[in-house]
Amino acid sequence: MRITVIGSGYVGTTTAIVLASLNHQVIGADIDTSKISKLKKGILPFVEPGLNDLLSEMLKTGRLNFTDNIVTAIQESDVIYIAVGTPSREDGTADLRYLQAVADRIAGAINGYKVIVVKSTVPVGTNRWLSDYLSDKIGNPKLFDVVSNPEFLREGSAMYDTLHPDRTVLGGMSGHAIEILKEIYQPLGSKVLITDWETAELIKYASNSFLATKVSFINEMCRIAERAGANVVEVAQGMGMDVRIGAKFLNAGIGYGGSCFPKDVKALIATARELGVELKILEAVETVNRTQPLFYLKKLVQTLRETVDKPWIVALLGLTFKPNTDDQRESPAIRIVEELLPDCQEIRIIDPTIEFPDQTPWPDERKVVVCKTVEEAFSAADAAILCTEWEMFAKINWEEAVRCMRNPILLDGRNFYNPEQLRAAGIRYLALGRGNST
Ligand SMILES: NC(=O)c1ccc[n+]([C@@H]2O[C@H](COP(=O)([O-])OP(=O)(O)OC[C@H]3O[C@@H](n4cnc5c(N)ncnc54)[C@H](O)[C@@H]3O)[C@@H](O)[C@H]2O)c1
Repeated sequence: MRITVIGSGYVGTTTAIVLASLNHQVIGADIDTSKISKLKKGILPFVEPGLNDLLSEMLKTGRLNFTDNIVTAIQESDVIYIAVGTPSREDGTADLRYLQAVADRIAGAINGYKVIVVKSTVPVGTNRWLSDYLSDKIGNPKLFDVVSNPEFLREGSAMYDTLHPDRTVLGGMSGHAIEILKEIYQPLGSKVLITDWETAELIKYASNSFLATKVSFINEMCRIAERAGANVVEVAQGMGMDVRIGAKFLNAGIGYGGSCFPKDVKALIATARELGVELKILEAVETVNRTQPLFYLKKLVQTLRETVDKPWIVALLGLTFKPNTDDQRESPAIRIVEELLPDCQEIRIIDPTIEFPDQTPWPDERKVVVCKTVEEAFSAADAAILCTEWEMFAKINWEEAVRCMRNPILLDGRNFYNPEQLRAAGIRYLALGRGNST
């Protein structure tokens, strides 16, 4: 099959590489010329374990090419995937301007029948709108079919997830187009669910919103555990042992972030509102998540105030929203830095994906320092905060850290460490909801 994937971000690039590995002839297209020139040279423009090797391998086969010429990319393929961003607008609704720009390009370039596959996460009603919009612009509805094929990959394991999907959801009106998509994915052997457009769109939002609900739920349990002297880690363990509940997405901490959960929860609330439905659970999920980083931080600030005068030096371990990605979008660590900054002499960030200040949201802020080593970050620090559970932070020698720090205090924002081990090393260990001792 000749396939074009428009949008070469986390989703589009992964999709293009994996489709090439399934023996399709694939073009990855993007308007960002710097991304395209990197991809052509075999360099991933983002961090994603394992994907760079598969990219190099696929470029060598000649089955994968990248271009910034969107028109040619559309004309040379029979199946056009759309994987552009759908960020939040101020009011929480999804901004569909990139999708519409691609629709305009397709309408202007179409030179024969195309299956148009919407991989971007789009609000309920968008695939139907796209089909009508293209019909109007092209003037011949027989020249294309639109299929909704929401993406469920997780950054950090994007390649594995794309090669081993739990399910493939295909939403649409055209049996012919759905058959083409089934054939494309057939080598993956995943379960296929065929629905209409609206159902496929809602499956994606409902899935992300449900996972976000699990996170905010355990974070509320964490708040009770903190007051009651219970241990939220064991509460989650006990809940997760119930197969009806499952253990995943039950780690209490500073909250969820990233490019999907925050925007998708907001967009679903906005869509529901437009449809005259109030989503009370999701509104609460959002509120808990928005307040969670500061709820955690309060404990550290109180301890610091009792211990040492301002301005403080704080080491921040991890800025990305989760490990194994360089994605900082909506990372709760950013909220923490912004909240702490006025009271700090320096915030020293250490994150394996960050080398220079211009890779942070504060390129010109002299109080934000990017460190290359843990020793540098800890030197004379008044406290450390673990925001992202990167593997490198599991290997910290805490006895040495205690010797480097002015005040050996650690706020564990992800319940990552064993409290006893850290206390034995001489750290004043702070976490939330981990029993009476924290
Ligand atoms: N990142 C994830 O983990 C993930 C997972 C599932 C679904 N999604 C959804 O997939 C979509 C893409 O997400 P992403 O994280 O890959 O976004 P991204 O921001 O990493 O990439 C989007 C790309 O689209 C390109 N683009 C924008 N307008 C274009 C145009 N007119 N023509 C060609 N290219 C254009 C941008 O230059 C950018 O490279 C979003 O709707 C997102 O919600 C993302």
